[in-house]
Amino acid sequence: MGGRRCIAVSALLVLTAMGFSCADRLNKSAADDYLLVEEDTHLDGGFSSLDGMLQWAIGHSDPAKLKETTLNVQRLSPEELKQRQMEIKELEKLQMPSDAKLMTVAINDLNNLSLSLEDRRRALQELLVLVEPIENANDLHKLGGLTAVIKELNNPNPEIRIISAWILGKASQNNPFVQNQILELGVLAKLMEMAHSDFVEEATKSLYAISALIRNYPEGQDLFYMEAGDLMLQKILSNSSIDIRLHRKCVFLLSDLVEFQLDGTSNRELPFLRNQHLLKSVIGLLLSPDLDLQEKALYAVKNLLMLRSSDALVFKDVCELDLALSRMRQQLQQLILEDKFNDYAIDVENLRREVELIFRGKLDMVRTSFGTVLN
Ligand SMILES: *[C@@H]1O[C@H](CO)[C@@H](O)[C@H](O)[C@H]1NC(C)=O
Ligand SMILES: *[C@@H]1O[C@H](CO)[C@@H](O)[C@H](O)[C@H]1NC(C)=O
Ligand SMILES: *[C@@H]1O[C@H](CO)[C@@H](O)[C@H](O)[C@H]1NC(C)=O
Repeated sequence: MGGRRCIAVSALLVLTAMGFSCADRLNKSAADDYLLVEEDTHLDGGFSSLDGMLQWAIGHSDPAKLKETTLNVQRLSPEELKQRQMEIKELEKLQMPSDAKLMTVAINDLNNLSLSLEDRRRALQELLVLVEPIENANDLHKLGGLTAVIKELNNPNPEIRIISAWILGKASQNNPFVQNQILELGVLAKLMEMAHSDFVEEATKSLYAISALIRNYPEGQDLFYMEAGDLMLQKILSNSSIDIRLHRKCVFLLSDLVEFQLDGTSNRELPFLRNQHLLKSVIGLLLSPDLDLQEKALYAVKNLLMLRSSDALVFKDVCELDLALSRMRQQLQQLILEDKFNDYAIDVENLRREVELIFRGKLDMVRTSFGTVLN
């Protein structure tokens, strides 16, 4: 097995040196929206798929040999390079270990209790890259990978926990088959606990994993509500000293869940609507100094108002939405006057007006039906 890995490593290095894109194989279209877009502050300050492969390659090879290979490549003439390129292509066809094989090796490493922390981290990073193609993600559980990765969520080392949550998110993203597998292993509560971590990165990646697990997946959403997902969101959103990235992710998750409800046929009542503290926190974010967060909160409020079962009077009397909207208008007009973020501010102002209209419409309806009752 060592030999196979070594060949794969040299092949990879030579291909890279020649400007071949090994990333092609790992390519996956960009995540389709903000929710699943990962933050750009990665563990090592940048970890593209190709970097990941290289790290894997470097991690699993003899440094002296590696140097020699790279030097040799640099010394080749164009003809020799071409020749080498052909050879590599053959090698790649014949000897590149399959992804399943690579995943098996990484999983075996994870299951090896005497593995060093660094090797454990590397095994996880290999898996993070390997689970990107959907067919690999689908194989992960069969190979024992999910169980091994989930175990690492309890690792005392935060970095190990972070990559593990990240793998679960990546593997389940837009993949109901894997969403179901992971949820059946009962991991949601653990991830929700991790979302309150004092390590921002750990909380962020846990929220990413939670979002990926329940997105467009009603059974996952039911579990999330059963585990008091509204309280999780409320706790994060009402804490003003929490990193703003987490607030953005939470508001977006909430908005997404409400939108799913709006699009769907399900008649269940969302627990968000009963949690007035949560509604208050979201409306409080309309006055955040961060314009992006303001906009996301506004969008969430719009979705909440559009739910037939949401109560306009709670938004008015308990959450003071009318006050928040008029303060927001002043802030935005100030920005527009000062010519700051002008286009963006105008867009947000348009959305704000739309929300105001929906809100007034809903209030009028309440008043009319109230009037009917009184008459
Ligand atoms: C990934 O795929 C997209 C669309 O198929 C393509 O535009 C892009 O260039 C690809 N990226 C890489 C690194 O191959
Ligand atoms: C477990 O890891 C140790 C240290 O890396 C290694 O020596 C040993 O061979 C591994 N055991 C198995 C079963 O792979
Ligand atoms: C608010 O967040 C900070 C930073 O994560 C944390 O230390 C603090 O305990 C949180 N406060 C509450 C009331 O949860």
